Amino acid sequence: MAKITAGVGCSHVPAIGIAMDLGKTHEDYWKPVFAGFEKSRQWMKENKPDVIFLVYNDHCTAFSAEVIPTFALGCAAEYKPADEGWGPRPVPVVKGHQKLASHIAQSVILDEFDLTIMNEMEVDHGLTVPLSVMFGEVDEWPCLVVPLCVNVVQYPPPTGNRCYNLGKAVRRAIESYDEDLNVMVFGTGGMSHQLQAERAGLINPEFDTRFLDNLTQDPVGGAQMPHVEYLREAGSEGVEMVMWHVMRGALNDEVEEIHRHYHIPASNTAVGHIILENR
Ligand code: DHB
Ligand code: FE
Repeated sequence: MAKITAGVGCSHVPAIGIAMDLGKTHEDYWKPVFAGFEKSRQWMKENKPDVIFLVYNDHCTAFSAEVIPTFALGCAAEYKPADEGWGPRPVPVVKGHQKLASHIAQSVILDEFDLTIMNEMEVDHGLTVPLSVMFGEVDEWPCLVVPLCVNVVQYPPPTGNRCYNLGKAVRRAIESYDEDLNVMVFGTGGMSHQLQAERAGLINPEFDTRFLDNLTQDPVGGAQMPHVEYLREAGSEGVEMVMWHVMRGALNDEVEEIHRHYHIPASNTAVGHIILENR
């Protein structure tokens, strides 16, 4: 049977991907950002997943303002990196696991979480940057990916608690799939950041640290935080962090924190990263 072995939380700041694509990772500004992922890349090699269930958000790339699904599950054979304005990132095409994705769609929807089924979808930095930081520069991604795209761009996004409970349904789906697979779940986005208006540049390390502590130690409590608190404390785009609760919901109540990385700044954002193993 498929088994969820670990969860990874990871920011997806687009400038991090650009720094890799332009060969700037050894510049003083970027060195500390990437240093915090060295252990993670080693850990990925040692714990090689067959599939990553990757929770991310689209930034008006695959979806325009005309259609904004709350939860959209990728069921395609592959996902091309999108052109976000400067051409697509020069990273490999992301390969899906169609049979597992259809099984997840069936299990989760019949478990009463309505998902939008995406049989074709391009993916933006929200999905490709976490893969880049965790795997480095590769000719091919070393595993398959099942993407789950969450609306955090137009109010109202799903609550943290809804995301946490969806993670539990995703776990039931994955662990009832009849193939021996090592599956990891990624929750991406964040950390505190606001990209526009008077509070542009807002970063709140105390909030981010508390968020990461709760994620490990008190996931149910952490998932109860209302949207207004994300907006007030972590900025308007900080609400991306609800997606980390899907990842946490898919893990055991008790997890082992294997690694944490937190760095300010990357672009206008605090970079956060955590690896949690199922005990
Ligand atoms: C930026 C954009 C994002 O989507 C994000 O999550 C963090 C930072 C940026 O443009 O700096
Ligand atoms: Fe984002």
